Amino acid sequence: MAGPRFVQLHHEDSAALREELARGLLDRPASVAPKFLYDALGSRLFEAITELPEYYPTRTERAILDRHAREVAAITGRGRTLVDLGAGNCEKAARLFDAFAPLRYVALDISVEYLRQALTNLQHRHPGIEMVGVGADFSTALVLPPDAGRGERLLFYPGSSIGNFTPADALRFLRQARAAGGPGGALLIGVDLVKDKATLELAYDDPLKVTAAFNLNLLRRLDALLGCDARVDDFDHVALFNEAESRIEMHLQARRPVRLRWPGGERALAAGERIHTENSYKYTPDAFDRLLREAGFARRVHWSDERGWFAVFLAW
Ligand code: AVJ
Repeated sequence: MAGPRFVQLHHEDSAALREELARGLLDRPASVAPKFLYDALGSRLFEAITELPEYYPTRTERAILDRHAREVAAITGRGRTLVDLGAGNCEKAARLFDAFAPLRYVALDISVEYLRQALTNLQHRHPGIEMVGVGADFSTALVLPPDAGRGERLLFYPGSSIGNFTPADALRFLRQARAAGGPGGALLIGVDLVKDKATLELAYDDPLKVTAAFNLNLLRRLDALLGCDARVDDFDHVALFNEAESRIEMHLQARRPVRLRWPGGERALAAGERIHTENSYKYTPDAFDRLLREAGFARRVHWSDERGWFAVFLAW
Protein backbone atom coordinates (compact mmCIF):
# COMPACT_ATOMS: atom_id res chain seq x y z
CA MET A 1 0.00 0.00 0.00
CA ALA A 2 1.12 3.60 -0.66
CA GLY A 3 2.48 5.65 2.23
CA PRO A 4 0.42 8.09 4.28
CA ARG A 5 -1.15 11.15 2.64
CA PHE A 6 -0.81 14.58 4.15
CA VAL A 7 -3.30 17.44 4.03
CA GLN A 8 -2.69 20.93 5.31
CA LEU A 9 -5.99 22.52 6.38
CA HIS A 10 -4.89 25.64 8.15
CA HIS A 11 -2.13 27.93 7.06
CA GLU A 12 -0.15 29.65 9.74
CA ASP A 13 -0.59 33.32 9.05
CA SER A 14 2.37 34.84 10.85
CA ALA A 15 0.79 38.31 10.93
CA ALA A 16 -2.32 36.88 12.61
CA LEU A 17 -0.17 34.96 15.11
CA ARG A 18 1.79 38.11 15.94
CA GLU A 19 -1.44 40.02 16.45
CA GLU A 20 -2.85 37.28 18.68
CA LEU A 21 0.31 37.23 20.80
CA ALA A 22 0.43 41.03 21.10
CA ARG A 23 -3.24 41.18 22.08
CA GLY A 24 -2.69 38.61 24.81
CA LEU A 25 0.37 40.38 26.19
CA LEU A 26 -1.53 43.68 26.36
CA ASP A 27 -4.47 42.05 28.16
CA ARG A 28 -5.03 42.40 31.92
CA PRO A 29 -3.95 39.94 33.15
CA ALA A 30 -1.51 39.21 30.32
CA SER A 31 -1.94 35.86 28.61
CA VAL A 32 -0.50 33.64 25.89
CA ALA A 33 -2.63 30.84 24.40
CA PRO A 34 -1.43 27.29 25.25
CA LYS A 35 -1.20 26.32 21.56
CA PHE A 36 2.04 28.35 21.48
CA LEU A 37 3.59 25.82 23.89
CA TYR A 38 3.98 23.29 21.07
CA ASP A 39 6.83 24.12 18.76
CA ALA A 40 9.31 21.30 18.02
CA LEU A 41 11.07 21.70 21.38
CA GLY A 42 7.81 22.24 23.27
CA SER A 43 6.34 19.03 21.83
CA ARG A 44 9.42 17.14 22.95
CA LEU A 45 9.27 18.68 26.41
CA PHE A 46 5.63 17.66 26.65
CA GLU A 47 6.58 14.11 25.71
CA ALA A 48 9.17 14.20 28.51
CA ILE A 49 6.46 15.41 30.93
CA THR A 50 4.39 12.33 30.13
CA GLU A 51 7.32 10.18 31.39
CA LEU A 52 7.49 11.93 34.78
CA PRO A 53 6.31 9.94 37.81
CA GLU A 54 4.33 12.99 39.02
CA TYR A 55 2.45 13.41 35.73
CA TYR A 56 -0.12 10.63 36.15
CA PRO A 57 -2.62 11.42 33.32
CA THR A 58 -0.82 9.77 30.40
CA ARG A 59 -0.02 6.44 32.04
CA THR A 60 -3.35 6.28 33.87
CA GLU A 61 -5.26 6.83 30.64
CA ARG A 62 -3.08 4.26 28.87
CA ALA A 63 -3.84 1.65 31.56
CA ILE A 64 -7.60 2.34 31.32
CA LEU A 65 -7.54 2.04 27.52
CA ASP A 66 -5.41 -1.12 27.58
CA ARG A 67 -7.78 -2.69 30.07
CA HIS A 68 -11.04 -1.73 28.34
CA ALA A 69 -10.26 -1.36 24.62
CA ARG A 70 -12.07 -4.56 23.69
CA GLU A 71 -15.15 -3.52 25.65
CA VAL A 72 -15.14 -0.19 23.84
CA ALA A 73 -14.71 -1.91 20.46
CA ALA A 74 -17.61 -4.23 21.28
CA ILE A 75 -19.81 -1.12 21.48
CA THR A 76 -18.40 0.85 18.54
CA GLY A 77 -17.70 -2.10 16.24
CA ARG A 78 -14.43 -2.76 14.40
CA GLY A 79 -13.28 -1.57 11.00
CA ARG A 80 -14.15 2.06 11.44
CA THR A 81 -12.35 5.23 10.52
CA LEU A 82 -10.34 6.25 13.55
CA VAL A 83 -10.02 10.04 13.68
CA ASP A 84 -7.30 11.07 16.13
CA LEU A 85 -7.82 14.62 17.39
CA GLY A 86 -4.67 14.82 19.48
CA ALA A 87 -2.28 12.76 17.45
CA GLY A 88 1.20 14.02 18.44
CA ASN A 89 3.43 10.96 18.17
CA CYS A 90 0.40 8.77 17.26
CA GLU A 91 1.34 6.24 19.97
CA LYS A 92 -1.95 6.30 21.84
CA ALA A 93 -4.02 5.54 18.76
CA ALA A 94 -1.56 2.86 17.62
CA ARG A 95 -2.27 0.96 20.85
CA LEU A 96 -5.95 0.78 19.82
CA PHE A 97 -5.26 -0.75 16.40
CA ASP A 98 -5.43 -4.37 17.60
CA ALA A 99 -8.78 -3.98 19.35
CA PHE A 100 -10.43 -1.67 16.78
CA ALA A 101 -8.89 -2.88 13.51
CA PRO A 102 -9.53 0.50 11.83
CA LEU A 103 -9.78 0.66 8.03
CA ARG A 104 -8.34 4.14 8.02
CA TYR A 105 -6.49 6.24 10.50
CA VAL A 106 -6.86 10.02 10.20
CA ALA A 107 -4.41 11.86 12.46
CA LEU A 108 -4.88 15.54 13.21
CA ASP A 109 -2.29 17.72 14.87
CA ILE A 110 -1.39 21.37 14.92
CA SER A 111 2.22 20.49 14.14
CA VAL A 112 2.23 18.77 10.72
CA GLU A 113 5.94 18.20 10.65
CA TYR A 114 5.84 16.25 13.89
CA LEU A 115 2.97 14.22 12.46
CA ARG A 116 4.81 13.48 9.23
CA GLN A 117 7.54 11.47 10.89
CA ALA A 118 5.29 9.65 13.37
CA LEU A 119 2.78 8.64 10.70
CA THR A 120 5.42 7.50 8.23
CA ASN A 121 6.90 5.20 10.89
CA LEU A 122 3.46 3.94 11.87
CA GLN A 123 2.52 3.19 8.26
CA HIS A 124 5.53 0.88 8.01
CA ARG A 125 4.30 -1.09 11.01
CA HIS A 126 0.68 -1.20 9.72
CA PRO A 127 0.79 -1.31 5.91
CA GLY A 128 -2.85 -2.44 5.70
CA ILE A 129 -4.37 0.66 7.32
CA GLU A 130 -4.99 3.67 5.10
CA MET A 131 -3.39 6.68 6.82
CA VAL A 132 -3.96 10.39 6.44
CA GLY A 133 -2.13 13.15 8.33
CA VAL A 134 -3.97 16.44 8.70
CA GLY A 135 -2.39 19.69 9.84
CA ALA A 136 -5.25 21.47 11.58
CA ASP A 137 -5.85 23.95 14.37
CA PHE A 138 -9.19 23.05 15.92
CA SER A 139 -8.75 25.28 18.98
CA THR A 140 -11.39 27.54 17.39
CA ALA A 141 -13.42 25.16 15.18
CA LEU A 142 -13.29 21.44 14.51
CA VAL A 143 -13.21 20.89 10.76
CA LEU A 144 -12.34 17.51 9.27
CA PRO A 145 -11.01 17.13 5.74
CA PRO A 146 -13.86 16.30 3.32
CA ASP A 147 -12.63 12.74 2.78
CA ALA A 148 -11.98 11.96 6.48
CA GLY A 149 -13.60 8.62 6.36
CA ARG A 150 -16.32 7.00 4.49
CA GLY A 151 -17.78 4.63 6.97
CA GLU A 152 -18.49 5.23 10.59
CA ARG A 153 -16.14 7.46 12.46
CA LEU A 154 -14.69 6.94 15.88
CA LEU A 155 -13.30 10.26 17.08
CA PHE A 156 -10.48 9.84 19.58
CA TYR A 157 -9.54 12.79 21.79
CA PRO A 158 -7.11 11.48 24.39
CA GLY A 159 -4.90 13.05 27.04
CA SER A 160 -7.49 15.29 28.65
CA SER A 161 -6.73 17.97 26.09
CA ILE A 162 -10.40 18.93 26.47
CA GLY A 163 -9.20 20.46 29.77
CA ASN A 164 -7.60 23.35 27.88
CA PHE A 165 -11.08 24.62 26.95
CA THR A 166 -13.30 26.51 29.38
CA PRO A 167 -16.44 24.43 30.10
CA ALA A 168 -18.43 26.68 27.72
CA ASP A 169 -15.89 26.19 24.92
CA ALA A 170 -15.67 22.47 25.75
CA LEU A 171 -19.44 22.23 25.21
CA ARG A 172 -19.10 23.95 21.84
CA PHE A 173 -16.26 21.62 20.92
CA LEU A 174 -18.20 18.50 21.94
CA ARG A 175 -21.17 19.63 19.82
CA GLN A 176 -18.81 19.98 16.85
CA ALA A 177 -17.34 16.55 17.60
CA ARG A 178 -20.84 15.09 17.63
CA ALA A 179 -21.53 16.66 14.22
CA ALA A 180 -18.14 15.63 12.83
CA GLY A 181 -18.70 12.02 13.89
CA GLY A 182 -21.64 11.81 11.52
CA PRO A 183 -24.41 9.19 11.65
CA GLY A 184 -23.23 6.18 13.63
CA GLY A 185 -20.26 8.17 14.93
CA ALA A 186 -18.82 7.94 18.42
CA LEU A 187 -16.39 9.87 20.58
CA LEU A 188 -13.73 8.27 22.80
CA ILE A 189 -12.34 10.96 25.09
CA GLY A 190 -9.93 11.13 28.04
CA VAL A 191 -10.78 13.40 30.96
CA ASP A 192 -8.67 14.26 33.99
CA LEU A 193 -10.65 14.13 37.23
CA VAL A 194 -10.78 16.38 40.30
CA LYS A 195 -8.50 15.14 43.07
CA ASP A 196 -6.52 16.53 45.99
CA LYS A 197 -4.71 19.80 45.37
CA ALA A 198 -1.23 18.49 46.27
CA THR A 199 -1.35 15.67 43.71
CA LEU A 200 -2.61 18.03 41.03
CA GLU A 201 -0.05 20.73 41.70
CA LEU A 202 2.86 18.26 41.79
CA ALA A 203 1.79 16.96 38.37
CA TYR A 204 2.18 20.48 36.96
CA ASP A 205 5.23 21.55 38.97
CA ASP A 206 7.56 18.55 38.98
CA PRO A 207 10.82 18.55 40.99
CA LEU A 208 12.88 17.89 37.85
CA LYS A 209 11.46 21.17 36.44
CA VAL A 210 10.51 19.71 33.06
CA THR A 211 7.10 21.41 33.23
CA ALA A 212 8.85 24.65 34.14
CA ALA A 213 10.99 24.33 30.99
CA PHE A 214 7.85 23.54 28.95
CA ASN A 215 6.18 26.72 30.23
CA LEU A 216 9.28 28.94 30.01
CA ASN A 217 9.83 27.78 26.40
CA LEU A 218 6.94 30.15 25.57
CA LEU A 219 9.34 33.05 26.12
CA ARG A 220 11.55 31.74 23.33
CA ARG A 221 8.48 31.55 21.11
CA LEU A 222 7.62 35.17 21.91
CA ASP A 223 11.07 36.04 20.65
CA ALA A 224 10.83 33.88 17.51
CA LEU A 225 7.27 34.83 16.51
CA LEU A 226 6.91 38.37 17.78
CA GLY A 227 10.48 39.63 18.07
CA CYS A 228 9.87 40.17 21.79
CA ASP A 229 13.07 40.17 23.84
CA ALA A 230 11.63 38.27 26.83
CA ARG A 231 14.34 36.72 29.03
CA VAL A 232 13.81 33.26 30.47
CA ASP A 233 15.79 34.41 33.47
CA ASP A 234 13.23 37.07 34.37
CA PHE A 235 10.39 34.59 34.98
CA ASP A 236 9.34 31.78 37.31
CA HIS A 237 7.05 28.89 36.40
CA VAL A 238 3.91 28.89 38.58
CA ALA A 239 1.27 26.13 38.62
CA LEU A 240 -1.69 26.29 41.00
CA PHE A 241 -5.03 24.55 41.39
CA ASN A 242 -7.86 27.08 41.31
CA GLU A 243 -10.52 25.17 43.25
CA ALA A 244 -13.35 27.62 42.53
CA GLU A 245 -12.83 27.15 38.76
CA SER A 246 -11.74 23.49 39.11
CA ARG A 247 -8.67 24.09 36.97
CA ILE A 248 -4.90 23.97 37.10
CA GLU A 249 -3.49 27.29 35.95
CA MET A 250 0.01 27.78 34.59
CA HIS A 251 1.58 31.20 34.72
CA LEU A 252 4.91 32.85 34.00
CA GLN A 253 5.58 35.14 36.95
CA ALA A 254 7.96 38.10 36.67
CA ARG A 255 10.82 37.81 39.18
CA ARG A 256 11.48 41.54 38.96
CA PRO A 257 9.96 44.50 37.10
CA VAL A 258 10.08 43.52 33.42
CA ARG A 259 9.46 45.56 30.30
CA LEU A 260 8.51 43.42 27.30
CA ARG A 261 9.12 45.17 24.00
CA TRP A 262 8.28 44.05 20.48
CA PRO A 263 7.92 45.84 17.12
CA GLY A 264 4.77 47.92 17.56
CA GLY A 265 4.16 47.43 21.29
CA GLU A 266 5.34 46.97 24.83
CA ARG A 267 4.06 45.72 28.16
CA ALA A 268 5.41 46.48 31.61
CA LEU A 269 5.05 43.80 34.30
CA ALA A 270 5.57 44.52 37.99
CA ALA A 271 7.56 42.06 40.08
CA GLY A 272 5.22 39.13 40.85
CA GLU A 273 2.87 39.98 37.96
CA ARG A 274 1.94 36.99 35.80
CA ILE A 275 1.35 35.95 32.21
CA HIS A 276 -1.41 33.30 32.20
CA THR A 277 -0.33 30.52 29.83
CA GLU A 278 -2.65 27.54 30.34
CA ASN A 279 -5.81 26.25 31.99
CA SER A 280 -6.30 22.55 32.53
CA TYR A 281 -9.84 21.92 33.78
CA LYS A 282 -10.56 18.94 36.02
CA TYR A 283 -14.02 17.34 36.03
CA THR A 284 -16.01 14.99 38.21
CA PRO A 285 -17.39 12.01 36.25
CA ASP A 286 -20.92 13.41 36.76
CA ALA A 287 -20.03 16.88 35.53
CA PHE A 288 -18.40 15.52 32.37
CA ASP A 289 -21.26 13.13 31.71
CA ARG A 290 -23.68 16.08 31.91
CA LEU A 291 -21.54 18.06 29.48
CA LEU A 292 -21.62 15.19 26.96
CA ARG A 293 -25.37 14.86 27.34
CA GLU A 294 -25.82 18.60 26.81
CA ALA A 295 -23.68 18.31 23.67
CA GLY A 296 -26.19 15.87 22.22
CA PHE A 297 -24.68 12.48 23.03
CA ALA A 298 -27.64 10.32 24.07
CA ARG A 299 -25.47 7.45 25.34
CA ARG A 300 -22.37 7.68 27.53
CA VAL A 301 -20.29 5.15 29.41
CA HIS A 302 -17.01 5.69 31.19
CA TRP A 303 -14.15 3.71 32.69
CA SER A 304 -11.76 4.84 35.41
CA ASP A 305 -8.72 3.63 37.38
CA GLU A 306 -8.78 2.28 40.97
CA ARG A 307 -7.88 5.67 42.42
CA GLY A 308 -10.50 7.47 40.34
CA TRP A 309 -7.89 9.88 38.99
CA PHE A 310 -8.75 9.78 35.29
CA ALA A 311 -11.69 8.71 33.14
CA VAL A 312 -12.17 7.57 29.56
CA PHE A 313 -15.65 8.28 28.20
CA LEU A 314 -17.31 6.71 25.18
CA ALA A 315 -20.21 8.81 23.92
CA TRP A 316 -22.50 8.26 20.92
C1 AVJ B 1 -1.84 18.34 26.84
C2 AVJ B 1 -3.37 19.94 27.71
C3 AVJ B 1 -3.57 17.65 28.33
O1 AVJ B 1 -3.24 19.94 30.63
O2 AVJ B 1 -2.22 18.19 31.39
C4 AVJ B 1 0.96 19.21 30.86
C5 AVJ B 1 -0.68 20.00 29.03
N1 AVJ B 1 0.60 21.32 30.70
N2 AVJ B 1 1.69 19.84 31.79
C6 AVJ B 1 -2.43 19.02 30.51
C7 AVJ B 1 0.26 20.16 30.17
C8 AVJ B 1 1.48 21.11 31.68
C9 AVJ B 1 -1.67 18.88 29.19
N3 AVJ B 1 -2.59 18.72 28.03
